[in-house]
Amino acid sequence: MTRPALRPRFRSILTLTLLALPPTRLALAAIALGLAACAPGADSPAARAAATPPAPVKWTTRAVPEARGDVRTLPDGKREAVRYRGWTTEDFGRYRTYAYDDSRAEPAVTTMAAMPKIAGDPRIGRRLFLDRSRGPCTGCHLIRGEDVWPAGNVGPDLSSIGERGLPDAHLFEMIHDPRRLFPHTTMPPWGAQGVFSPVEVAHLVSFLQSQKGPLPVEKSAERDPATRTRPTGFGDNLDPTNNPAVGRAEAAEALWGRRGTAGKSCADCHAGGPLQAMRGVATRYPRHVVQYGRVLSIEDLLAVHGSERAGLPLPAESPDNLGLAMLVKMASNGVPVQLDLDSPEQRAALARGRAAFGKRVGQRNHACADCHTQGKGADKFLGGRLLADVEAGLTRHFPTWRTSQGDVWDMRKRMQWCMTPLGMNMLAADAVEYAELELYLASFDQGKPISVPGIRH
Ligand code: HEC
Ligand code: HEC
Ligand code: HEC
Repeated sequence: MTRPALRPRFRSILTLTLLALPPTRLALAAIALGLAACAPGADSPAARAAATPPAPVKWTTRAVPEARGDVRTLPDGKREAVRYRGWTTEDFGRYRTYAYDDSRAEPAVTTMAAMPKIAGDPRIGRRLFLDRSRGPCTGCHLIRGEDVWPAGNVGPDLSSIGERGLPDAHLFEMIHDPRRLFPHTTMPPWGAQGVFSPVEVAHLVSFLQSQKGPLPVEKSAERDPATRTRPTGFGDNLDPTNNPAVGRAEAAEALWGRRGTAGKSCADCHAGGPLQAMRGVATRYPRHVVQYGRVLSIEDLLAVHGSERAGLPLPAESPDNLGLAMLVKMASNGVPVQLDLDSPEQRAALARGRAAFGKRVGQRNHACADCHTQGKGADKFLGGRLLADVEAGLTRHFPTWRTSQGDVWDMRKRMQWCMTPLGMNMLAADAVEYAELELYLASFDQGKPISVPGIRH
C-alpha cells in the first residue's frame, strides 16, 4: 500500500471499502488498488499533493485576530468563524482545507444518485440557477434572458442546451456530481456536496431542458462573456493621485523611524533610509529563513522581526505591517524578482506550494488551478471578473490597492478571499501553507520587475 501515485478519489473510495472489508477480501482489494494506480491521471497535482511530505514546522500565528482563521463557540453552542469585518462567519469545518495536518481526502465521487420522481419546475430551476447565495451557475454559464448579468464563460454557454435532447438523468448527474464524467472538471459537485438538494437539482434540470428555440436577438455585446469588452489596466499604479495605496506606503515612512519597546527603530539598524537600505530585498522573498525554519514572505518576516528586533509589533494584516511591507517592496520597484529556486529547502517548499495550488478544498471542491490556469478558468470570465493566469505572475504587484474594496490587500488576504466564499475555512494569514503557495505563485514572477503597490479591481 505504498503507491504514492493514487488519485485521491480512488484513495477515499478505497479507504472506505477497505475499512468495510473482512480480512480475506483485503488481498483482492489490494489487486484492485494496483489497477487503480495505473489509471490515467495518477500523476495529477492532487496525487502529488498526497505524496508530498508535510512541512515540519510548527508556527504560532502573529496575525491580527480577524486574520487567524479562528473558529469560536458561541454561548448557544453554535460555532462561528472569526474573520474580517463583512466576511461570512459561517464555519466550514466539515470541508477540507490547505492545512498540512488536514489529511482528509477529496470527497469520494458519487455514482449515479437516483433522480427524484418529480416534475421539475423550470421557473424554480431558473431562480436556483441565478441564486447568488449558492452558485451562481451564471458565474460560469450563460443562459437566456436580459436579466442574466454578469454571466461568465468558464463553463459552456447553456442557452441552447435543451436543443440537444440530452436525457434528464445525464443532466442530473452532471449537476449532482460531474466528476464521474469529467474527472478534472472545474464544476463543483453541487449535489454531492449538499449545495443543492436532489429535488432542487431536478428543478435545475427541467430549467435547462427549457433552454431551446431560436435565440433571442442580443441587445448588448456586454451580456455575453464571449463578446464582452475585456477590462484594460487601471492607469499608472505608482501615481499617488491614481493609486491611494502609494500614500499609505509613504505614511509608513514614519514607522521606519519609530522606536519600539526595545528602544530601536528600523532606521537604527538599517542605515540609509528605507529605499536604499531595502533595495532588492523583496526580490528574494518568499524565502526559507533558517532562523525560523520556514518560508517567509516580507509580511511574515516583518511580523516576527519587528517585535524581536525593535519591540514594534507588526502583526500580519495590521495596517502597520501592510504599510511597511509596501515600503520595503517599493524599494525593489523595477528590480527583477530573483528567488532562490534551487536550494533543497526552497525546492521542497515549492513542490508543496504547487501541490496546494492543485488541491481541491472546501465545499465547492475547488483548486486555485481551476480558476487561474490556462485550459481552465484563466482568461475567461467568472461572472464579470476576468480570471488572471498564474503563469503571468500574480505576486509582483502585491500589496495591491483594490478599487472594489477601497483598501490595500496583501497576497494572503487575496488567498483567504478567493477560497472563503467557496466554503473553506481560511488559515492564518501568516500560515506556512500560504507562504509556500505564495512561493509557487511567485516562481512565475521570476525575472519580472516588482511594481508595488499594484492597482486592481
Ligand atoms: C466554476 C465554474 C462552474 C460553475 C459555477 C458551474 N459550472 Fe457547470 N460546467 C462547468 C464546466 C467547466 C463545464 C464543462 C465540463 C468540463 O469540461 O469540466 C460545465 C458543464 C455543465 C453542464 C454540461 C454542459 C454540456 O454541454 O454537456 C451542465 C448541465 C452544467 N454545467 C450545469 C451547471 C449548473 C446547473 C450549475 C449551477 C448549479 C453550474 N453548472 C455551475 C463549470 C461550472
Ligand atoms: C536591532 C537591529 C534591527 C532592527 C531594530 C531592525 N532590524 Fe531588520 N534586520 C536586522 C538584521 C541584523 C538583519 C539580518 C537578518 C537577521 O539577522 O534577522 C535584518 C534583516 C531585515 C530584513 C531582511 C533583509 C534580507 O536581506 O533578507 C528586513 C526586510 C528587515 N530587516 C526590515 C526591518 C524593518 C522594516 C525594521 C523595523 C520594523 C527592522 N528591520 C528593524 C536588524 C534590525
Ligand atoms: C472560483 C474561482 C477562484 C478560485 C478557486 C481561486 N480564485 Fe483567485 N481569483 C478569483 C477571482 C474572480 C479573482 C479576481 C480576478 C483576477 O484577478 O483573477 C482572483 C484573483 C486572484 C489573485 C489576484 C490576481 C492579480 O493579478 O491581482 C490571486 C493572486 C489569486 N486569485 C490567487 C488565488 C489562489 C492562490 C487561489 C487558491 C488558494 C485562488 N486564487 C483560487 C477567483 C478564484
